[in-house]
Amino acid sequence: MNLEQKTDKFAEYINQSNNIVFFGGAGVSTESGIPDFRSSSGIYNKNEEYNTPPEVILSHTYFFENTEKFYDFYKSKMLYLNAKPNNAHKILAKLEKKNKLKAVITQNIDNLHQEAGSKNVIELHGTVKNNFCLDCRKKFDVNYIIERKNVPYCDNCGGIIKPDVVLYEEQLNYEAVNSAINYITKADMLIVGGTSLAVYPAAYYVSCFFSDNKNTNKKSVIINKTTTDYDKIFDISINEKIGEVLKKVYSELYVDN
Ligand code: OAD
Ligand code: ZN
Repeated sequence: MNLEQKTDKFAEYINQSNNIVFFGGAGVSTESGIPDFRSSSGIYNKNEEYNTPPEVILSHTYFFENTEKFYDFYKSKMLYLNAKPNNAHKILAKLEKKNKLKAVITQNIDNLHQEAGSKNVIELHGTVKNNFCLDCRKKFDVNYIIERKNVPYCDNCGGIIKPDVVLYEEQLNYEAVNSAINYITKADMLIVGGTSLAVYPAAYYVSCFFSDNKNTNKKSVIINKTTTDYDKIFDISINEKIGEVLKKVYSELYVDN
């Protein structure tokens, strides 16, 4: 299939579905100016000024042992507070409004799906928006974090504040995982986008969709700029920019804009 045929078919699938689930990652936000992790321009490859691999910096142990360095990296590489939702976020929000899409499951922590208007967003890796004191659990918004010169301390008890994002060595939120698996298993259409599926649980969630053989009418689409190991198991795989693809597909749907 050429690109035109793929997007036609993709639109047809969406027209026929009313239980779509989207599963995405960092590639959803690159068109908003936020770098992904594993592309050549991604955070894991543009890290010369730190002598430590990002997977180490973004770990639970490192957070406690090198809190200052963690925050230095976190504030300069992980916070993009001026980023705006792009077409991918906006169209997913529209599909939810039209009752076609039931949930957005994201590995991103940037809050852009919510900013675009999506209501049911499952944030597997947490969000930069929420921060809390490790001692008294007082909550802080992200502005409090950026306004502190380096490590943010609690104004109530002096404890260290930690962002509510899942670091390496930490467990994912049990409810978020359960809910994600539940939505994916029940979906009649799965759209995966902007994720290398390289981080362990991600590929597992996706496999939950394919493990149910009862519903043979299920449709699956993956949109990722580079190929992934899983492209072949999807009905359609498109190696293009997700914002552009979703915009084109949305314009071909039988829904009012
Ligand atoms: P990756 O950086 O591993 O993968 C992003 C994928 O998106 C790459 O394969 C790109 O080719 C693709 N991509 C980039 N721009 C795109 C675009 N405009 N349209 C379509 N595809 C595009 O990011 P994730 O899979 O999200 O975890 O990584 C998963 C987790 O690894 C992250 O949540 C993060 C990281 O360690 C934590 O920080 C806990
Ligand atoms: Zn406190």
